[in-house]
Amino acid sequence: HSVGIIGAPFSKGQPRDGVERGPDLIRAAGLVEKLKGQGCIVKDYGNLIFEEVPNDEPIGRVKRPRTVGRANEQLASAVERVKNDGHTCVMLGGDHSLAIGSIQGHASSRNELSVVWVDAHADINTPLTSPTGNIHGQPMSYLIHELHSKIPVMPNFSWIKPCIAAKDIVYIGLRDVDPEEHYILKRLGIKVFSMTEVDRLGIAKVMEQTCDHIFSKVKKPIHLSYDIDALDPSITPATGTPVVGGLSYREGIYITEYICQTGLLSAVDMVEVNPKRGKTEEEIKSTVNTAVDLLLGCFGRVREGSHSPDYKMP
Ligand code: ARG
Ligand code: MN
Ligand code: MN
Ligand code: MN
Repeated sequence: HSVGIIGAPFSKGQPRDGVERGPDLIRAAGLVEKLKGQGCIVKDYGNLIFEEVPNDEPIGRVKRPRTVGRANEQLASAVERVKNDGHTCVMLGGDHSLAIGSIQGHASSRNELSVVWVDAHADINTPLTSPTGNIHGQPMSYLIHELHSKIPVMPNFSWIKPCIAAKDIVYIGLRDVDPEEHYILKRLGIKVFSMTEVDRLGIAKVMEQTCDHIFSKVKKPIHLSYDIDALDPSITPATGTPVVGGLSYREGIYITEYICQTGLLSAVDMVEVNPKRGKTEEEIKSTVNTAVDLLLGCFGRVREGSHSPDYKMP
């Protein structure tokens, strides 16, 4: 695997600071060294530098639209560059509003994508349905063709071109979905494996059916958008909007192993790691280390172990 890493220390898609420290913490936990240790070629593109847009007054309920729009425009060009350099792109967040730029930049370099969204939340509110106004609860709505007519014009959002079809999206791990979001998911016929389906089918069947769904016609490159709050807060408590009843560590890892073996993983987001939301050093460590393990699973780590093909026993 050849991996290009972009750090996106950005928190303005939601109100809690600390999430901008995600990229540096994930690196400090040894991400690059560990990826190299499992045979990956890694290029770290460093952190993006985001400017705060002054006088960023809310538009309707939407908070900090200009700042979020501008940051995502920067991220989109960075992701496009990493893809054009030939790497699988890893975007370290930051909050989940960054999926706007990450998916848009990825789509600019490829024809069509499928999106696997692993999260407690659907993040598909439109600016008009959002109960909180936080853009990290809205990124999908800007990207889906079928919702285009429902998105009002906002400053610094005009560069976004809807690039994902509803049929090319699969959600895994949902358990906190707003009524308006539920309506959108049903109305667009989007494939959802909520925690109920994870309980009913088990994670192995969920992943089989995920791939049946996204590979039903042509095999498109996969964009995996992984919100750390998909996992149960007993494992990953240091996050802004934890929800009880989440994926186990093993289920979370299984998703990454399975997506890796499709050979189609083209970009990954790892978002919403927020050290300031951890109550103890242990809670922060557990959250950050799990984020690293999930990324290692995306790039060939398997739990049975592995060895290089030219290993000679002494
Ligand atoms: N549904 C809520 C909202 O729209 C919560 C979203 C949480 N999103 C996240 N990326 N953690 O505000
Ligand atoms: Mn979430
Ligand atoms: Mn809610
Ligand atoms: Mn999310």
